[in-house]
Amino acid sequence: MRFSIVFFSAAGHTLKVIRHVAEQMGGVDRTVDLSNPFLKECTFGKDERVIIACPVYGGRIPGLVVERLRKVTFESTRVITLVTYGNRAYEDALLELNDTILVRGGIPIASAAVVTQHSMVPTVAANRPTEIDFQNLSVFARFALQKYDDMHAVPVEVSGNRPYRAWSKMPVTPVVSGKCVRCGMCIQRCPTMAIWITDPKKTDPSKCILCMRCVAMCPQGARSLPPAAQQAIEKKLAPVAKLTRENEFFF
Ligand SMILES: Cc1cc2nc3c(=O)[nH]c(=O)nc-3n(C[C@H](O)[C@H](O)[C@H](O)COP(=O)(O)O)c2cc1C
Repeated sequence: MRFSIVFFSAAGHTLKVIRHVAEQMGGVDRTVDLSNPFLKECTFGKDERVIIACPVYGGRIPGLVVERLRKVTFESTRVITLVTYGNRAYEDALLELNDTILVRGGIPIASAAVVTQHSMVPTVAANRPTEIDFQNLSVFARFALQKYDDMHAVPVEVSGNRPYRAWSKMPVTPVVSGKCVRCGMCIQRCPTMAIWITDPKKTDPSKCILCMRCVAMCPQGARSLPPAAQQAIEKKLAPVAKLTRENEFFF
């Protein structure tokens, strides 16, 4: 039986992970992209199989994911949940994702926290997921699949604390260099429509969630974090840059 995937992946790392897990389980049926600002309401039935994934932001799940998941309803659907994180820590993110799914009517039955390249500092965990990570994810997928044979679905217990840790994004937006050719791709792909439709050099700070999509996908490499912010994040992440964190799996 094929799976539906529901995901938020600003810079593409989460998408790689959820696709791999879904392929190991028989392939993808329905796709719900939470980065779509025009997302329509959707419902998953009891017998559908769903995988949900999103990145960790500040040890939490992005507020945008919580907001967009309000459009998704589950009818006691069993859900596999994944968070990806850039080698620092995932803290309360997986717990928050699972709590959110429960509130929406789903039952998280297997979960994983997966190390991926850091989307703000690509030199951190640069090679993750490795071949071995993908092999681990394949084993996770096989075990998770078996959970669908259980008659009684019980929510999986994962790491994390309530109340969730406090986090707010840095008060900056990406800057644009002279390499910008105004192709408009960043405007079209921004999950929050934060970039001015008539001028890609302007980003609305009240809408921008600093997800890095525009930086990652700009064909000209014209967008980046402001240098001072980039340096501050690199300094903060320096201690974890040399560590090799393991993926964590919960059944
Ligand atoms: C705003 C922001 C906050 C982040 N916070 C964390 C964090 O708390 N811990 C961590 O290890 N990685 C953190 N990361 C890294 C991402 O979780 C990681 O790179 C993720 O795989 C990105 O997924 P994506 O490429 O699908 O957008 C953060 C990235 C961004 C953009």
